[in-house]
Amino acid sequence: MKFFVDTADVTEIKELAATGLLDGVTTNPSLVAKAKRDFREIIAEICAAVPGPVSAEVAATDLDGMLKEGRTLARIAKNVAVKVPLTWDGLKACRALTGEGAMVNVTLCFSANQALLAAKAGATFISPFVGRLDDSGADGMELVREIRTIYDNFPELKTQILAASIRNVLHVKQAAMIGADVATVPPAVLRALVSHPLTDKGLELFLADWRKTGQRIV
Ligand code: G3P
Repeated sequence: MKFFVDTADVTEIKELAATGLLDGVTTNPSLVAKAKRDFREIIAEICAAVPGPVSAEVAATDLDGMLKEGRTLARIAKNVAVKVPLTWDGLKACRALTGEGAMVNVTLCFSANQALLAAKAGATFISPFVGRLDDSGADGMELVREIRTIYDNFPELKTQILAASIRNVLHVKQAAMIGADVATVPPAVLRALVSHPLTDKGLELFLADWRKTGQRIV
């Protein structure tokens, strides 16, 4: 499973990219608002820091507007994935932009039928929002499971499942077990993936025993 980080904080992205474990980045208008910087500049910087796909979301909701904005965003760098909402116009924009060679991430997916439509529209990525479904009392991971089943039933559908609105490390494990192609994860959750108290305790014990040997490796 690929790891994308879900943030528009360029400093944070550069730090995480240095681990060599980051496959891409997703942003959304809320994350860009938090960054308080010029959107296109942010996207250009992220694209230069991370070679994988970088999702940049359109703000227009009509087809023409989405196409204009999508083309502008796609011109920023080869690794921009234009993010469009899961509406009829969003699906039309998806079809047109992928036809022009752009990557497209169809976002705000809350049902399996929406995901089927996005795949038929040629989406590069579909973003089911796991955490927001959980918040509403539904089972967000069940949606990822349903989409996996549907896409596996029809191998001609090449859309990658990008589990989004990931809120905790359990979500990451579940997405991997279900077979999501990508999980986009907030920086804090990405950092938390490495932690286990028994790792810390075990390392402490090994180091204490090593000191007793009085040896050095180099
Ligand atoms: O980028 C889309 C998604 O990951 C947003 O997550 O936590 O705002 O529901 P959240």
